[in-house]
Amino acid sequence: MAKRKIFSTHPLFDEARIILDGECDVEYWAKPERPSRDEIANRIKDKDGIVCLLTDRINEDLLRAAPKLRIVANVAVGYDNLDLPACTKRNVIATNTPGVLDETTADFAWTLLMAVARRLVEGDSYARNGNWKGWNLDQMCGADVWGKTLGIVGFGRIGRAVARRAAGFKMHILYTATKRATVEIEKELGAEYRDLNALLAESDFVTLHVPLNSETRGLLDVPKFFRMKPTAFVINTARGPVIDEAALVHALEAGKIAGAGLDVFEQEPFIHPGLKRANVVMAPHMGSASVETRSKMAAMAAHNVAALFRGQRPPNMLNPEVFQTQ
Ligand code: DGY
Repeated sequence: MAKRKIFSTHPLFDEARIILDGECDVEYWAKPERPSRDEIANRIKDKDGIVCLLTDRINEDLLRAAPKLRIVANVAVGYDNLDLPACTKRNVIATNTPGVLDETTADFAWTLLMAVARRLVEGDSYARNGNWKGWNLDQMCGADVWGKTLGIVGFGRIGRAVARRAAGFKMHILYTATKRATVEIEKELGAEYRDLNALLAESDFVTLHVPLNSETRGLLDVPKFFRMKPTAFVINTARGPVIDEAALVHALEAGKIAGAGLDVFEQEPFIHPGLKRANVVMAPHMGSASVETRSKMAAMAAHNVAALFRGQRPPNMLNPEVFQTQ
């Protein structure tokens, strides 16, 4: 039987290519710029599957252009770029990459938290630009992290990985989630449940670890920022639109919070000009960007595709009901 045809919107990493090439006939997008929607539509016309990134919006229109498509393998755990109901309606399996990026993303939430609290980026340019004329008692004083209260919004795998790291900093850990964790998990992580408003009022650091959906879009808005302490910091490694960016800028300008560490933005790669301030540390959506983790994510997407065309269940299906009917 002829090999199944796949379009990958990225060249991927070796490990993933070995898996995919072993099973399928793969066309890899190789240009440095991302493919346009028209380009993707054109490439998937005759394809059985697509491996895509979180910047590729896979919706009804695009699926219509690909009548043979059976799988959309997203190289990301978040899948707000996929129209899942449209995939299901068209009998297309959608998959993501849960689990492999939890620890790496938690590391990065901590990187941002430490950097903004201890003014690392400001200090780096001060030293680098030759402005440093010598040690001084009140120079570059930031906020302590150890012993403070950490508020974790979303207590799934990544939120819990963030909590585990807080123990070493002797922090008081609060969390909020749609579903309360078991007593055993709360005890193991030393975490106390709060509703969102109480968590915002009590925390010195608020870190977001929720998926983007209709409930979480704009979760932190003006009234929410006004509940926070003026000395508190917000960290976002989840999805940009979970924060109403104009509200965040307003809160920063009005001194309603002390600063922010942001890896994600409302309209990436556009960055609200009001965020370009000394008390905001920002990064270009790189929470999971270690060579090891990105390579594992790509391999996981490749496994999902290869499994399907071997007649097996793709391990990370978002709409498993489609598998029964294929
Ligand atoms: C994801 O996987 O959803 C991240 O945002 C990128 O690693």
